[in-house]
Amino acid sequence: MSKPHVPPAPPATLVIFGAMGDLTRRLLVPALVNMTRLGLVGDGLQVLGVGIDPGDDATLRQALDDFKPETGGEGAAEKDAAWTRLRDRVHYLEGDFTQDAVYDALKARLTGNAAFYLAVPPRFFGDIVDKLAEHGLTTETPTAFRRIAIEKPFGHDLTSAQALNQRILARIGEPQIYRLDHFLGKETVQNIMTARFANMMIERVWNADCIAHVQITAAETVDVGTRGKFYDSTGALRDMVPNHLFQLLAMVAMEPPASFDAEAIRNEKGKVLKAVRAWSPAKAKRNGVRGVYTAGQIGDRVVPGYTESPDIAPDTRTETFAALKLMVDTWRWAGVPFYLRTGKAMTCRDTEIVITFKPVPFASFHRANAERLPPNRLIIQIQPDEGLSMDLLIKRPGLEVDTVPIALDFRYADRFDIGHLTGYESLIYDMFMGDQTLFQRADAIEAGWAAVQPFLDLWAAEGTPDPYVAGSLGPAAADALLERDGHSWHKLAIAGHSEP
Ligand code: BG6
Repeated sequence: MSKPHVPPAPPATLVIFGAMGDLTRRLLVPALVNMTRLGLVGDGLQVLGVGIDPGDDATLRQALDDFKPETGGEGAAEKDAAWTRLRDRVHYLEGDFTQDAVYDALKARLTGNAAFYLAVPPRFFGDIVDKLAEHGLTTETPTAFRRIAIEKPFGHDLTSAQALNQRILARIGEPQIYRLDHFLGKETVQNIMTARFANMMIERVWNADCIAHVQITAAETVDVGTRGKFYDSTGALRDMVPNHLFQLLAMVAMEPPASFDAEAIRNEKGKVLKAVRAWSPAKAKRNGVRGVYTAGQIGDRVVPGYTESPDIAPDTRTETFAALKLMVDTWRWAGVPFYLRTGKAMTCRDTEIVITFKPVPFASFHRANAERLPPNRLIIQIQPDEGLSMDLLIKRPGLEVDTVPIALDFRYADRFDIGHLTGYESLIYDMFMGDQTLFQRADAIEAGWAAVQPFLDLWAAEGTPDPYVAGSLGPAAADALLERDGHSWHKLAIAGHSEP
């Protein structure tokens, strides 16, 4: 990958709470290594990991050695060199972040710019922010920023998200808060805005006059595995919809911002999420489908049923699949359904957005009528196999006037190398640079929860998820949700593709 044309971030200390955890090893450190290699950070970057496990700098460095980006593949030697450069600037602070001693130690060590990354279970978010503020660690000066990155899940429903926002905002200002949604670090997600707002021929037809419906799918082959403790109290809806899928929905449905600065974009995204109709309980029942996978096979992997997996409550009613029909109540989207679905242990890994256009009003072709012509579709393939394709009709060659569907297909991999980044590089860089465009503001987070709250309430109160076999496309009720409107789900493109 060529070096980006942006200046390196200013010198800063990245304090990671939860330094020995999975996120740090799997994503944060690999991202920092890539940033070092690409010149997005210079030698002024210090990493200070905080963790409860006994150890010193050498312990943390060694622990991270195992998880540095694997050798082999693009830029392996460069990555190794970057880790060697970064390694000496990685330090460890042993301590319990619920206790004051850690913050006293931080106070003694930190000068200048600092960003605190909360890679810890969500129940600690509020406590850590309180303690940082009480110890004066969040106080900014004209020469030193103090920022806090907060991972998802931000709350587990509307009330808890509001309470967490209130608690944090009582301590620090919104410009200091970087609420992460890692989907926003994905190149193809960022491309949605470019595709829409840099192309006249797309944006002009991007409305209820021309679009029949929108589908957003995030299908995964991974099952719950060892994440039972977290997942069983979360479920597919909370885990994926108000955050990841709503980020995609907001990008698709937002109005063009007046400028590309962070607040202008966040205003438009916030407006869309606030316009998602909050269903009544009866409508939520009609417009939401939940599923749970039973034992099955995905490729050559035999998957036990969800209820037979470790740490799942014997009387669990948690869903591993959710499909929703939502309406966005704005002029642009009046009457256009947005269908969202996500699930674990499905047949393939595929995150995609499908825009289906309305039929032409009249077809003057021999033996054809407009209703029977397949619709134009724009498919934004988020992952894997990132790309963009458009289904159009052309004349079938021959003497007869007949139509045939074709696809104009663009794959990123054919033109660019985007496969070797974690997605966290741009998020961490932007946080150091003070650019909040790709981070969620309090109002948008709350609007997301408000939109799914009717489903959360309904599903907590009654019923159980419909079973689907692991390796399938989810329960039949999810198909019925669209069929009743005369539509069907887009056939997932990469059937059989398995997650690593
Ligand atoms: C996480 C969810 O936020 O996103 C996981 O907690 C999910 O359950 C993951 O698997 C999906 O992210 P990606 O980038 O693999 O599509």
